[in-house]
Amino acid sequence: MRRMMIAGNWKLNKTIGEATAFADVLAKRLVSHDLRDVVIAPPYTALAAVSQSLSGTHIAVSAQDVFYETEGAFTGAISAAMIKDAGCTYTLVGHSERRLYFAETVETTVKRLVAAKAVGLIPIFCVGETLQERESGRMHDVLRSQLSALATLDFSANAVVVAYEPVWAIGTGVVASESQAQEAHAFVRGILAPMGLSETRILYGGSVKPSNAAGLLAQSDIDGLLVGGASLNITDFLKIIAAGQPGSYEDWFDLQFP
Ligand code: 13P
Repeated sequence: MRRMMIAGNWKLNKTIGEATAFADVLAKRLVSHDLRDVVIAPPYTALAAVSQSLSGTHIAVSAQDVFYETEGAFTGAISAAMIKDAGCTYTLVGHSERRLYFAETVETTVKRLVAAKAVGLIPIFCVGETLQERESGRMHDVLRSQLSALATLDFSANAVVVAYEPVWAIGTGVVASESQAQEAHAFVRGILAPMGLSETRILYGGSVKPSNAAGLLAQSDIDGLLVGGASLNITDFLKIIAAGQPGSYEDWFDLQFP
């Protein structure tokens, strides 16, 4: 049984104070609700403080990227061991914004996956096609190529998470339809299966909101959500965590909590 995961990728947002204030409220609201795995990915500067705030809770912390070398003259880089040391369980790898703005390639994502695995960090490995790739019929080739990074790494199914994030849906307000997302997820699972990863969780990401979360989570191959913009707002994020659960959002959370 694949346990649902709701992860918030904060990207380039929140100071340490803002991040810990959010984490404190999240922990208090979720104190007796652990039906789903909840993960937040603050910027590097806030990782240690947020991990501290969340210690003793079941909410996990992720980095947004990891460099592949372990130490040395790599100005500005952060290693997997440093991320672990800051209290993280997870790290994103291969997010499309890293591929676009920071020259991430299949080769460098492989190195990052290896580095994360070496210290026991669980990668949340992001894949997804651009609109042009989808419209020109290359979506399946692109996903196959991106996922090939996992092929030789011998992850066990629970030691990695995959996120399908169509680039055209990220930050655009254009969410993939439930059937588009399900189709892509089923395709991704078909590629993962021969790698022994058929039970690996596959998250959907791209313009997830409280209004569309339940419909996406109801799809058979969608095992959770990787949320960008809507994860910056505590109420929206809580609504997404509760989406599709029996009972209402109000049943889940104490709305009187300040
Ligand atoms: P949005 O939810 O803002 O579209 O971002 C998705 C994303 O990139 C999560 O990693």
